[in-house]
Amino acid sequence: MKKITYSLPFILLILAFTAIKPKPIKDVINESLNFSVKQYALMSKLLKEKKDSLPRSTEPNGRILLTSSRNWTSGFFPGGLWYLYEATGDNKIKEDAQLFTARVEKEKLVKTTHDLGFILNCSFGNGLRLTNQPEYAGIMLTGANSLITRFNPKIGLIKSWDNRKWPYPVIIDNMMNLEFLMWATRYTKDSTYFKAAVSHADNTMKNHYRPDFSCYHVVSYDTVNYGKVTIKQNHQGLADESAWSRGQSWGLYGYTMMYRETKYDRYLQQAKNIAKFLINHPNLPADKVPYWDYNVTSKDEPRDASAAAVMASALIELSRYVDKKTAKQYLQVAETQIRSLSSPAYLAELGANNNFLLKHSTGSKAHNSEVDVPLIYADYYYIEAMLRYKKLFNM
Ligand code: GLY
Repeated sequence: MKKITYSLPFILLILAFTAIKPKPIKDVINESLNFSVKQYALMSKLLKEKKDSLPRSTEPNGRILLTSSRNWTSGFFPGGLWYLYEATGDNKIKEDAQLFTARVEKEKLVKTTHDLGFILNCSFGNGLRLTNQPEYAGIMLTGANSLITRFNPKIGLIKSWDNRKWPYPVIIDNMMNLEFLMWATRYTKDSTYFKAAVSHADNTMKNHYRPDFSCYHVVSYDTVNYGKVTIKQNHQGLADESAWSRGQSWGLYGYTMMYRETKYDRYLQQAKNIAKFLINHPNLPADKVPYWDYNVTSKDEPRDASAAAVMASALIELSRYVDKKTAKQYLQVAETQIRSLSSPAYLAELGANNNFLLKHSTGSKAHNSEVDVPLIYADYYYIEAMLRYKKLFNM
């Protein structure tokens, strides 16, 4: 048999090609999920010693920031555990998810915040979806009924915050809580929840968005001349006319979700327009992890990994509703985001980062609060994005 010989340059070429060839995304995701399981086992162990607490971030002194269930972020850790249970089928993770989900139950009766979707839908909602425990549905329904008390039919929107400087503030984040009302619609077959959610989404589309499809963070309404907009501004952004990054991601996710739930074309068009604004933004870095605001003027400004995670998850879902070419574009961005977040630049080492998964998120740079820190909601949407990607490609 003739012996095949390869020249040295050819071998070097093959070696170089192997070295630069990116790892298959399937491997990236599976390795990151395996890491997440181990990291969250450490977080669960710690939390079991801290009665009633749930993790949010890192304090300026470097210690973990824990909160009570009243905090808007309380549902994300149990929610992340439910996703990891979904990914692994590991009953130990399920037990932990149940334990920490129970810690947020009492929020079902709270009527002073719009964040019940974040708190209860991410925790009990995922638990219900995966286990069908009937008591979870009852808790969810009580929570959805608390949330809907915040809908003022004369204004046509859910009030986000109480006791602030605005008479009737509605923040873009509120779009995320509509998913909870859409669940209640399906569960009860009562259209009250649906009508409130659609009214909220329509009015937000009308009043929060600018002609370029960026949005304000806060819009406040007149409670005397019902429904009249009194102010449009950014609370957590760089300036009133800037595009606060996480707010843009909440909007993208919110309208994608509302299209899934209603099949109303106007929501699909809105989500596509928001995606176009974000994907083509000259300030979106090459790794696709946004700065904390799209209008920053320096490359030294902090990033917001949470904005990237929410955006990735939304783009993966949105890719299912658009033509092939657009879908490919969305998935390329989402894949880059997952790769970036899964790289050592953003993903923590085991046991480091106070046992959170991701580094480099920004809570509110405008208030010099939680800047360049881990944030539990970045973790949650990062895990969700990876699961959505796996599901989409049947990995
Ligand atoms: N929902 C509050 C925030 O995104 O910072």
